[in-house]
Amino acid sequence: MERTLVIVKPDGFARGLTGEVLRRIEAKGYTLDTLQIMTADRDRLAQHYAEHEGKPFYQPLVDFMASGPATFAIVSGHRVIEGFRAIAGATDPTAAAPGSIRGDLGRDWGLAVQQNIVHGSDSPESAEREIGIWFAQR
Ligand code: RTP
Ligand code: MG
Repeated sequence: MERTLVIVKPDGFARGLTGEVLRRIEAKGYTLDTLQIMTADRDRLAQHYAEHEGKPFYQPLVDFMASGPATFAIVSGHRVIEGFRAIAGATDPTAAAPGSIRGDLGRDWGLAVQQNIVHGSDSPESAEREIGIWFAQR
């Protein structure tokens, strides 16, 4: 079964949207395999966001992701990677389509980093790499 790493980012956690995001995942028919609430450490964030190192938004992104608790979830189902990214919506929450998580619940607050509520892995290789970073032996 395909699986993906979903993160309800610190903005989503602080706004009390964790349950709403998990509700949408379940309502779409995917399975919650593992859930953990934690404040991400910078070492693992550097691994997670290695592809963005050197970009202007990299440091603000890491600072934001380390700023408070977030919920990490392993979610499974046929084509879950594509499906979760569809229900998450476009990266920019102002432009994300209404009906999506980011389009319904997010907006650009004028801050340095896009606080866009959720992360979802973008390929099977990314999913396994990211799950390995955040969940030992899973
Ligand atoms: P994610 O990885 O969080 O699921 O989001 P994504 O694939 O839609 O976006 P990605 O390009 O992987 O970027 C990762 C996160 O970095 C922040 N970002 N800020 N231009 C910017 O200011 C900018 N671009 C990206 C967002 O938090 C994005 O989700
Ligand atoms: Mg991404």
